[in-house]
Amino acid sequence: VTKTLTILGFGSQAQAWCANLKAEGWDLQVILRPESPSWSLAQELKLKVLDTHSPDLASVTQLALLAPDHLHLEILKDLAPQLSEKTLMILAHGYSHHAFNLPSLFPQLRFGLLAPKAIASELSARKIKKQSLAAVWFSNNDLEVESLLFEIMKDLGITYQVKASFEEETKADLFSEQTILCSLLPYGSKLAFDHLVKKGINPELAFIECWMELKLIADAMVERGPEAFFKLISPNALIGSSQAREILLGNDYQAKLDGIYENIESEEFYQQCQSISVDEHRRVVLDEWKQSQLQKTFEQLKELVSEKERSE
Ligand SMILES: NC(=O)c1ccc[n+]([C@@H]2O[C@H](COP(=O)([O-])OP(=O)(O)OC[C@H]3O[C@@H](n4cnc5c(N)ncnc54)[C@H](OP(=O)(O)O)[C@@H]3O)[C@@H](O)[C@H]2O)c1
Repeated sequence: VTKTLTILGFGSQAQAWCANLKAEGWDLQVILRPESPSWSLAQELKLKVLDTHSPDLASVTQLALLAPDHLHLEILKDLAPQLSEKTLMILAHGYSHHAFNLPSLFPQLRFGLLAPKAIASELSARKIKKQSLAAVWFSNNDLEVESLLFEIMKDLGITYQVKASFEEETKADLFSEQTILCSLLPYGSKLAFDHLVKKGINPELAFIECWMELKLIADAMVERGPEAFFKLISPNALIGSSQAREILLGNDYQAKLDGIYENIESEEFYQQCQSISVDEHRRVVLDEWKQSQLQKTFEQLKELVSEKERSE
């Protein structure tokens, strides 16, 4: 495997991949739109930057498409005719491959999946600290793609690899973010915080209980495992947990989980993703959080939740 990789996009994953791979001696170049605001940052980091219509695209052999998933089809329609036959194309999430059936549209490209199971900031931080990192990979029995994926995973700092198809990774990833990671955790926490404040509890205390402790609890759950976690929590927490489980997570909750899975399985969710304007939607969501008392309390207590070591 030659340690050369071209990366399209210079967003959060791309920057983390560049940092981790550059440290391991990879020869990297980045493809950006001519109007991209990321040119100066990529060039400051001494990366070669090509624009999306550079004649040099014809010599790209190994390409990671690290742009937002819902745009992959549009990007590839423009990019694929400029690439050489048999370019190895790495995706960091199975969604576009599965939702648009990319191999049927671009049979000349050889797709591989390398989906780090970490947000970009953790991909860099955990490699530096030599902490464990998982990724999902797949290569349709293409040994050249497979070797490239494993070389990249090693140098990204991935310590555990799980093989799963594009479709399987897509369903698992969407379902976990919709049912736990990006819904229940932030919004459940916000509802609990707002409720305490409405009942007259000091916002600082509500923040510590409902937001800050999330991380400490999650660390204990993940690192010690479920059995040890439930051995560890206090008697009151144990009894309250079982009671609240009945109240919050009963049969109707199961039916809701079924509904969310069905929305993904039927691919209705894919159509929703293609029809909603992401920029507009993100603006609305960010506005809501910006106005929230939880965000304001976070701003006040930033020092408290900082992971930076204290100086004394
Ligand atoms: N974010 C994560 O932590 C995370 C975790 C695991 C996997 N992933 C996967 O990693 C991939 C990248 O995600 P990301 O969150 O890093 O994306 P992102 O930060 O939103 O990526 C934005 C980059 O894509 C470029 N881009 C957007 N539209 C483009 C177009 N039409 N042509 C060329 N470039 C375009 C942008 O260029 P401009 O500079 O021109 O705007 C920007 O550099 C996705 O497949 C995602 O599922 C992400």
